[in-house]
Amino acid sequence: MIVVTTPTGAIGRQVLDRILDSGQAVRVIARDPSRLSARVHAHAEVVAGSHGDADTIMKALDGADRMFWLVPPAGLDHADSARRYYLEFTGAACRTAASRGVRVVGVTSLGHGYRGEAGLLSAALAMDELFESAGVHYRALALPFFMENLLHQARAMGERGTFVLANAADRPLPTVATRDVAAAAAALLLGTGWTGRARVPLVGPDRLTPDAMAEVISDTLDRAVHYRRIPLADHRSAMVRRGASPATAQDFVDMVEAQNDGIYDAELRDLGSVTGTGADTGTGTGFRAWCQDTLVPAARS
Ligand SMILES: NC(=O)c1ccc[n+]([C@@H]2O[C@H](COP(=O)([O-])OP(=O)(O)OC[C@H]3O[C@@H](n4cnc5c(N)ncnc54)[C@H](OP(=O)(O)O)[C@@H]3O)[C@@H](O)[C@H]2O)c1
Repeated sequence: MIVVTTPTGAIGRQVLDRILDSGQAVRVIARDPSRLSARVHAHAEVVAGSHGDADTIMKALDGADRMFWLVPPAGLDHADSARRYYLEFTGAACRTAASRGVRVVGVTSLGHGYRGEAGLLSAALAMDELFESAGVHYRALALPFFMENLLHQARAMGERGTFVLANAADRPLPTVATRDVAAAAAALLLGTGWTGRARVPLVGPDRLTPDAMAEVISDTLDRAVHYRRIPLADHRSAMVRRGASPATAQDFVDMVEAQNDGIYDAELRDLGSVTGTGADTGTGTGFRAWCQDTLVPAARS
């Protein structure tokens, strides 16, 4: 039995589709089962509740041997640090998976080995350590910046010709498409030949700077689109005005500073992929292809 968390989320929904296609027994955990499709209700067991809740996770893992694990993005108004949120959310699942020998495929950040504070990314890396130190059989899907992060700016790109981030305009920002994350997660969940602990970095083939992304977006959208970098201090104040706690805003600032400091490079370099020798990264969906099939339709809708 494979348990899938976040079956209504961007990644979880695509993982679930692939597990359903395989015909293997699957159980999902959903806060609101009415949001699940008819196909899911017909072919999956459904446990209602949050996967951060101990009773829910005990019930969902009953008789299960594999689990797709994803910590939901922390809300803006989260009072505590992201690290505390990740660890508290994961605690019960980690204990239950360890005691029952459940193999876990988790969504986390690329950046293992980075020594500085990286806010949200450090929190995800701390979650990996929690699973690893508990002895859970664990595969950490180590991910850079999702291409889909740009989707909520698709309209602005089409209408105003700009997109904004706080990242340095001229620093390469590795990216990945969530479809590739889901494909890798499903392959691991359906595979039976692994135990122990390992990181599985997944990075798309590009190393584009935000300025270079703007060029690709301009080409594919057939209109000039420029990248505008927001100063981090402005971003922090905007977050606080929208209701973010100081801790949440700081976690975001620390994440972007670490991205600008090359947090992703450290793990890629360890794998040898930066020099092109070693890890199986750099395949999958390219940024241009993703713009053509996902961003452009969203910008024109
Ligand atoms: N964005 C990036 O660049 C990036 C990079 C690396 C790693 N990540 C990681 O990727 C993950 C985000 O994945 P995603 O894009 O698939 O997320 P998403 O589309 O925002 O989906 C979030 C899911 O979590 C569920 N959810 C929300 N709050 C919940 C709660 N309190 N209890 C239980 N379920 C809850 C939602 O379901 P309902 O609302 O239907 O209940 C939904 O299924 C995060 O862990 C993030 O750290 C992101």
